[in-house]
Amino acid sequence: MAITEATGFAELLKEATDEAHRRAERTAVIGALAEGRLPVEGYTAMLAQHYFFYDALEQAAEVMRADPVAGAFVHDELTRLPALARDLAALIGPDWRERITPGEATLRYCARIHEVCFDWAGGFVAHHYTRYLGDLSGGQILRTLLNRHLGLTEETGLSFYRFPGIPKAPVFKARYRRLLDDAPWDAAEQQRIAAESRLAFELNTAIFEELGARFC
Ligand code: HEM
Repeated sequence: MAITEATGFAELLKEATDEAHRRAERTAVIGALAEGRLPVEGYTAMLAQHYFFYDALEQAAEVMRADPVAGAFVHDELTRLPALARDLAALIGPDWRERITPGEATLRYCARIHEVCFDWAGGFVAHHYTRYLGDLSGGQILRTLLNRHLGLTEETGLSFYRFPGIPKAPVFKARYRRLLDDAPWDAAEQQRIAAESRLAFELNTAIFEELGARFC
């Protein structure tokens, strides 16, 4: 891990999470999704788990909006909870909320978000970066694959991957990386945040593994 050679914090974070990112990408459930072997029930279950951790993360965003450092990272156009509710209603039906439950790994992820994202700016940004930059990157690839293999559209379950307020993801991501580079964190704090982001990746991977055991 060449994190000492990194130039700015954005680059450091990307390099520090590179291995964890690859582990997340290589999970069975993502492999099945990419190859068209994941049934729509598997995708629905995955999205249902997303609902619980985005609920926690977006509650934290409401608190962190007022924080002098973390507040700059809160962007309303990233908010995913309404899209998740729409997709789950389309995939499950109007009573979707009573029919979904969080798995063990999801509960662990939500607990960690509650532990570090409500009163530690760096902790919030670590989790925020891990999810939203991922949704704007690999998430866009997943959207194409889900459309191809399951025939889903924005109306029938893919609105989670669409950001109508962000017409150019690369432009948004470049701005986000500048925010990371400009944040007033010293080297020790940057390392703490990178470690928290690695943990966020691992918590995501654990959810994928749980789903893999059910659907792959
Ligand atoms: C389905 C598997 C995945 C694929 C194919 C994938 C693919 C990618 C690609 C191609 C990029 C680079 C985009 C760019 O530089 O503009 C990227 C970035 C990223 N991905 Fe993923 N990804 C996957 C899963 C995940 C997961 C599960 C997470 C986290 C939960 C995640 C989080 C991130 C983050 C935070 C970045 C931004 C890295 C940075 O530029 O600092 N990805 N992903």
